[in-house]
This record gives sequence, structure tokens and C-alpha cells, in this order.
Amino acid sequence: MAQDNSCIIAIFGASGDLTKRKLMPALYALFRQGLLPKNFAVLGTSRSPFTDEAYRKRIIEDVVTYAGIKKSEQKQLEPFSKHIYYLAMDATDVSHYDDLKDKLSKIDSAEKTGGNYIFYLSTSPSLYTSIAKNLGKKGLAKEGKDSSWRRIIIEKPFGRDLESAQELNHDLQRIFKEDQIYRIDHYLGKETVQDIFALRFSNGIFEPLWNRNYISRVEITAAETIGVEERGGYYDHYGALRDMIQNHLLQVLGTVTIEPPSFFDATDVRNESIKIFQSLRPIKPGDVDKCAVRGQYTESVINGKKVLGYRQEKDVAHDSMTETFVALKLYIDNWRWGGVPFYLRTGKCLPSRVSEVVIEFKRTPHHLFTQDELCSAKPNQLIIRIQPDEGILLRFGMKKPGAGFDIEEVGMDFHYSELVDTYIPEAYERLILDCIMGDATHYARADAVEACWKFVDPILKAWEDDPEVKLYGYPVGTWGPPEARHIFDSPNEDWRYPTDHLTTDGDFYELK
Ligand SMILES: NC(=O)c1ccc[n+]([C@@H]2O[C@H](COP(=O)([O-])OP(=O)(O)OC[C@H]3O[C@@H](n4cnc5c(N)ncnc54)[C@H](OP(=O)(O)O)[C@@H]3O)[C@@H](O)[C@H]2O)c1
Repeated sequence: MAQDNSCIIAIFGASGDLTKRKLMPALYALFRQGLLPKNFAVLGTSRSPFTDEAYRKRIIEDVVTYAGIKKSEQKQLEPFSKHIYYLAMDATDVSHYDDLKDKLSKIDSAEKTGGNYIFYLSTSPSLYTSIAKNLGKKGLAKEGKDSSWRRIIIEKPFGRDLESAQELNHDLQRIFKEDQIYRIDHYLGKETVQDIFALRFSNGIFEPLWNRNYISRVEITAAETIGVEERGGYYDHYGALRDMIQNHLLQVLGTVTIEPPSFFDATDVRNESIKIFQSLRPIKPGDVDKCAVRGQYTESVINGKKVLGYRQEKDVAHDSMTETFVALKLYIDNWRWGGVPFYLRTGKCLPSRVSEVVIEFKRTPHHLFTQDELCSAKPNQLIIRIQPDEGILLRFGMKKPGAGFDIEEVGMDFHYSELVDTYIPEAYERLILDCIMGDATHYARADAVEACWKFVDPILKAWEDDPEVKLYGYPVGTWGPPEARHIFDSPNEDWRYPTDHLTTDGDFYELK
């Protein structure tokens, strides 16, 4: 790695959950693989009091826990931890930034990091603007004449609606230039999401079929088995549409539907993906019910054990109308995708953890082996499994051996796990490394974030303001409310269910 990638990564929110579970394990993984620059340092900051030594000790324990490292191998973490420092500060107090500047400068001299800093904002979103402003006031956002650089990574959620996202963009861009701002969406860092580019643009067989002439529908699912756990306070303020659809699932949609860029770089790729987001057909207020269904998980009994519903979770209002499930139909009004329905679905407390894209191809124009369309071979499907069991499955019809001409569905199934010695990096590893290298291809640009908010805003508004729009309860362990099928054009259509419902004892009912 070239010398000018040397840098200090200053993490705001260093005592928080994301830092311990994702950021530090990702940094250690990069270090272990020799991917970090030779000269690097990490400076953690938050209000909790730690000395450098105490913080290093804590980080070693966290990495052992969350990166699955054996206690006996803990010693290997020591060379990494020597590059970690800590500063206790209140990020809202501008006077504390003198200490920050001083500490950064001392680490910079000691570690020879060339005055290059990445500020990673892993705090509550309410602090983003104030941190950026304070960095600006103390001259920490300004890049040096000596070619030293400054970058800022902003965690999700980026805004709560279009207006707040625009405001945040405006505030950030007054202090940092757009090419210094890295809006992270960890789905874009997932190996399987990045592989969609490779699948489409490095193979001759898929791209000719990748359009409205051959594809009948596309389904994108992100299902979780867990509920809100310790994050009820945050989640109740955001909900599934803001937490998953506006960012992650729309970004996956962008990757699946983007036109081939001229070059694979941040400018060209993002110039193409913004065109997709700008082509999303706006949902009219009166149509929200027809193309979006919301649900909330309710109490149920699974294997004899009572499981709490969303309204009984810690820090959630007992009469909360926040959705934990969304099913959405949308269209992309452009030449390639005109008329193809895209179905997006996400939910908590569903029967299995799975994120996948299902590309469904049109049936053959003539049913040669049976006159009954429904009995003929099922449509071909290409299933891109984003997580877990990352891989790609192609489903198609084959003749059943023996008399007659019955067609049976078979699959060609590729699993990443079959690649011997292939290590699948965590999304945060890839994205942090990209930022160090100054590559923003897999980070969201300001216009894309705003276009996505512009698309979801009318749904949010209808759900908040229109008492006629229903919220459906679904028992924990089911695939969401049955009403999620109402957005399909035909009663014969259904979602793909990667697993069955769990055996639950709970009722489906409307929540008020
Ligand atoms: N956790 C996840 O799985 C996850 C996933 C995706 C995105 N995110 C996003 O990542 C961000 C962080 O999430 P998190 O779960 O890590 O939150 P968290 O556990 O609540 O951590 C918040 C951090 O901010 C620090 N902090 C709070 N007020 C501060 C202040 N005035 N000055 C300095 N530091 C302050 C806290 O430390 P002190 O109290 O010591 O100051 C703590 O380190 C959020 O925007 C979240 O939406 C989180």
C-alpha cells in the first residue's frame, strides 16, 4: 500500500456497540491480513474515561469476543493494540476539540501518519452535525497543502426523512467537500452484493437477459429472526421502512438494476445508480395501501415458550404504531425495466435469517409439454443469496426420467463456502479499507440518499397521518402478515419462502 494511505482513524462513539462488535474486529482483520497501511493508528473517543492502556485492554477483549478469536491467540492482538489510543471527550463541546487536535498531532508524529485523518461517526445521529461543525471550527476538516487528506464516515441512519437528510447533507457539505464524505451502507460492502456487479458485467450469458423482455419480476428480501433486542428506543423512532428499505434494500435494488458504467469507479458507478433512484415511480398518497403493507410482530408461543411482541419490548411504547415488517411493490420507469414489478420485503422476528434477491424469468411463450400454464414448468429463477450461506442458485426445468414428458425443477447451486481457502471479508472490512484508499464507489452519494428518501417519504407520511392505513400484527416466527400478498397483481403470485413458518401459537390481527 502506498505511503499516502497512512492515516489515523478517529472513531467517535468508541465505547459503543458498533465499535466493539464491528469496527474494531474489522480493523483487526485488516491488520491481520496485512491490508492496513504500514503507518496507521486508531484513536477512540467518547465520554467514558479510559487511559490508552485501559482502552487497549478492552478492545482486545472485544475483538476476542466478536471476531471469534481463541483466548490462546489473544497475544496476537498485541501488535495491533499498540496502534490504538483513546481520548475522553464530550463531542458536543467545542473546547474539547483542542485536546483532540493535540492528541491527533502527537499520534501523527509518533506513528508517522502524514497528517491524514478519517473521522468515523459511530454515535447517535443527533450528534453528527455537531461533531462535523466542531471539527470544522478547529480546522480539522481542512486538507493540507502538503496533500494530507481528511475524510468523514457517517453511519446510518442518514436522516429520518427527506428534509432531515437534505439538512444533514447541507450541514456536512458546508464543512467537508462531497469527495471527503463517506456515507456508509454496510450492504454495499457485502461480498455478495458486490458480486452482483461481477455476475452481471463479467459474464456474457446474463446481461442479454437482464431486462424487461426476459425478466417478469424481482424479489428482494432481508429477513431477520431477532427482534429489536437492546435497540428498542432507536427502532421505535425509525421502523423497518427507514431502517432497512430506504437504505439497504434500495441500494441492493440499485445494484441489480444499474446500467453498465463506463468505468468501475466512484463517479461512473454512482452516476449510474442515481439514475435508477431518480426513475423510481413516485407512489401517490392514495396508492400507498395498494403497494405497501406494514406489520408489527406480536406475542406468540414457540416450542412451548412465550415470546414477547414488539409492544412489550424494552423502550418501546405500549401503543407503538412502528412497523417491524414491510412489503413493498415498486416500478422503475426506464427503458430497461419498464413494467417489471420489484417486490421488497423486510421484517424482524421472521422464521429465518436470510437476505436474497430472486430474479424471475418469463415463462416460455408456448407450453409444449402441457396446455395448462399453471402446471407447466415453474419460471426459471436466479437466486442471489446475500446472507447467510452466500451463493447463487439457478433453478430451471428438466425432464423427469422415464415415460412421458413431465418437467421437474432442478437447481445449479454455487456456495461461496465451497471455495477452499476463500475468506469472505465482513462488509465493514471492505468499506473501511475503501475509505482508507479514497475509493467511495461503495458509499452512498448525497443525491442518491436524497432520491431514496424522496421515494419513501409519501409512504411514511401516509402511515403517520392516515388513520385508514392499517398496521397488521403477525405472530413472532411467521413470514409477516398474510396481507403482504395483497400487493401482487395476481392471486396466484406469492413470495418465496426460504423456510416454513415456525410452529407458532399466535394470532394474526390488526393493530390499533
Ligand atoms: N450497533 C449496531 O449494530 C449498528 C448497526 C448499524 C448502524 N449503527 C449506527 O451506528 C451508530 C452507533 O450505534 P451504536 O449502537 O454503537 O450506539 P451506542 O452503543 O449507543 O454508542 C453510542 C456512542 O456514542 C458515545 N457518545 C454519546 N454521547 C456522546 C457525547 N456527547 N460525546 C462523545 N461521545 C458520545 C457513547 O459513549 P459515552 O456514553 O461513553 O460517551 C457511545 O460510545 C448509530 O448511528 C447507529 O444507528 C449501529
